Amino acid sequence: MKPPPFRYHDPKTVSETVSLLASLENAKLLAGGQSLMPMLNFRFVLPDHIIDLNRVEGLAYIREAKGTIEIGAMTRQRDLEFSDAVRARWPIMHEALLQVGHRQTRNRGTIGGSLCHLDPAAELVSLATAYDATVTVAGPNGEREIPSTGGHDVPRRLRELPQVRSDRRCACAGLLSPTSGGGALAAGAGEGACAAARSIRRPSALGATMGETRKISLTVNGKRYEEEVEVRVTLADFIRHQLGLTGTHLGCEHGVCGACTILFDDRSARSCLMLAVQADGHDILTVEGIAPSPDELHPLQQAFHENHGLQCGFCTPGILTTLIEFLRDNPDPTEQEVRVAISGNLCRCTGYQNIVIAALDAAKRLRAQAAPSQATAPQTS
Ligand SMILES: Cc1cc2nc3c(=O)[nH]c(=O)nc-3n(C[C@H](O)[C@H](O)[C@H](O)COP(=O)(O)OP(=O)(O)OC[C@H]3O[C@@H](n4cnc5c(N)ncnc54)[C@H](O)[C@@H]3O)c2cc1C
Ligand code: FES
Ligand code: FES
Repeated sequence: MKPPPFRYHDPKTVSETVSLLASLENAKLLAGGQSLMPMLNFRFVLPDHIIDLNRVEGLAYIREAKGTIEIGAMTRQRDLEFSDAVRARWPIMHEALLQVGHRQTRNRGTIGGSLCHLDPAAELVSLATAYDATVTVAGPNGEREIPSTGGHDVPRRLRELPQVRSDRRCACAGLLSPTSGGGALAAGAGEGACAAARSIRRPSALGATMGETRKISLTVNGKRYEEEVEVRVTLADFIRHQLGLTGTHLGCEHGVCGACTILFDDRSARSCLMLAVQADGHDILTVEGIAPSPDELHPLQQAFHENHGLQCGFCTPGILTTLIEFLRDNPDPTEQEVRVAISGNLCRCTGYQNIVIAALDAAKRLRAQAAPSQATAPQTS
């Protein structure tokens, strides 16, 4: 499955981004991709241009200022979840973030993307409204602030926006200002729920945009690759078909099953919800890169093998890559923590009992490996 053809832009500054938005017809901003990429994969949205925000400088930050917290639009949900400042000042945000998708989606998803996507069920949208957040947006005419006016406002906006916007060009042109004016929350937002509205591609533009390619260089499992990729190809398809690393599996191709999980710069991510072109200059680990050598399994793999943590094995690569990150962050987890960690990985045949047992066993093995002297010390009582 592939997104429709589009032209790909990766601006480096806010002003460059605003200029692109002002000049391009039927353009979509790409932030974490956790909502936009499923819609592209399903072809629910058909943009002529994708403007990727991931290389725009100065849009990812958490700052305490004037009794408020300012948050950059491209701040990942995971960084908010683990921020001491957010936890201390705004503990409800930490609690809310634990409910947003899964570890893999929070690693990529941004606060700006969530606010602009404006899903009625989105935790961050409710929080921003409940806490009277101020959203700073940038456009061709400069910056302006949009206050959130209270919880009662959300249903009104959500009811009205699809009606008034679905018949015209996407208006989600806003961006977070890197120099926010001190609102309780500063995040990127355009005019709102444009993502819900289908944009209709003009046939002439479709022909003009078919097949754009880029040269990318990246590291996968420690090996350097220089490759030419079509810009609309997902990272999952690239890994499987272009690099031939078919251990990364595809189940749903819209971010739900977790089979395609890889580590992107050491963070777990759904490779079906990323474009290969976004991997330029980055480091990827797939299941093929986990074992220390061709003759030796990683302790995690060994634990799965010995505890019968798999049957058909389809979900296993995604579960292993997810657990590599999780056990690195949390070397001594509880059973409940393991269950939450793999909640974004669907297994259709084992049930999860042996997977959880294997993960806990792997944690024990990894702790022993990290501290061999302690693990082998004689018992004194
Ligand atoms: C399996 C799964 C489960 C999920 N569960 C939850 C959940 O429980 N709760 C929840 O709240 N969310 C959930 N999500 C959605 C997730 O939180 C997304 O991260 C979020 O909705 C969009 O953020 P993003 O950064 O990925 O934005 P993208 O998907 O990149 O963009 C979303 C939309 O916002 C626009 N946009 C993005 N950034 C900007 C900006 N700075 N300025 C203007 N427009 C912008 C884009 O053009 C697009 O239309 C889930 C997603 C998945 C895949
Ligand atoms: S194939 Fe990517 S999450 Fe299902
Ligand atoms: S072992 Fe078959 S899907 Fe999980």
